[in-house]
Amino acid sequence: MNPDFSQLDLNGRLRHLITLDGLDAALMRELLNRAQGYLCLPGQLPPRGGDLCGWTVANLFAEPSTRTRASFELAALRLGADALNLDVMLSSRVKGESILDTIYTLQAMQVDVFVIRDAEPGIIEFVARHVEDHVSVISGGEAHLSHPTQGLLDALTIQQSKGGFRDLIVTIVGDIRHSRVARSAHCALRALGIAELRLVAPEEMMPDRGEFAGAVRYRSFDEAIERADVVMMLRIQRERIAETATTDPRNYHEQYGLTAARLARARPEAIVMHPGPMNRGVEISSEVADGPQSVIRRQVSNGVAIRMAVLAQLAEARRRRTP
Ligand code: CP
Repeated sequence: MNPDFSQLDLNGRLRHLITLDGLDAALMRELLNRAQGYLCLPGQLPPRGGDLCGWTVANLFAEPSTRTRASFELAALRLGADALNLDVMLSSRVKGESILDTIYTLQAMQVDVFVIRDAEPGIIEFVARHVEDHVSVISGGEAHLSHPTQGLLDALTIQQSKGGFRDLIVTIVGDIRHSRVARSAHCALRALGIAELRLVAPEEMMPDRGEFAGAVRYRSFDEAIERADVVMMLRIQRERIAETATTDPRNYHEQYGLTAARLARARPEAIVMHPGPMNRGVEISSEVADGPQSVIRRQVSNGVAIRMAVLAQLAEARRRRTP
């Protein structure tokens, strides 16, 4: 994010949510606590609220999504807002309309919040600089750079399973170089104070040395998983890798796939995370993905709760600015 742009308002409250980089740990904790209140037991009716009554939330996703898009829509509806899903690939953008003209058009229809996923770095902040004062912009995933609500839902899942962050060893495995999930997890977990972050990946999937400050890099998965409390698996982001680059899935699975045998090297109570979508048999075996240590489906449930918390927080901040 450019240093002259802030995603906070003058009261220090959320105005937009574009990145977790530099976001105060206290604000993150507030969002995690608020999200906890939106959760329910399986089979119960999900909590609802009127925090966004009369608002309109628009999802503008220029890259594929199941979890993020659906959960933002459900979060908006459960808080009483209208939800609009614009299929960007079927919108007038393909006829040459610019992103800003698209935003101004929807703003004229009284959209209050834009949730944007885009492959172009910087575009979400660019939109945030141009919306009207009362309008907020949330990143639903920006290129390989940032996926803030994913970082928060991952932190919430770890907090629920481990009771906090202190003393935890977290191992992130796979295509970290192209992963916005890993970057946002790093921002969140560093701010919330885990003991150690380990990265393990083949050379071509490791991030540049200047990134992931404080993390310890491994080449061997067997070493990186020793005594880990949390194992976060990532898929290979083929959409961000040159078509000529090939990875043999069987070879990859052998070296960087999470199997039950490999998981046994972690702490016995370690949890297994994956942001989805999964490629079973490549980065993770079905035995582990569906096994007792997997919290992958809980991550999905937490995703709705975190997105409700972010939307409710934006609404509260707006009410304070314009009572
Ligand atoms: N984790 C995540 O961003 O999933 P989707 O691409 O399905 O939204």
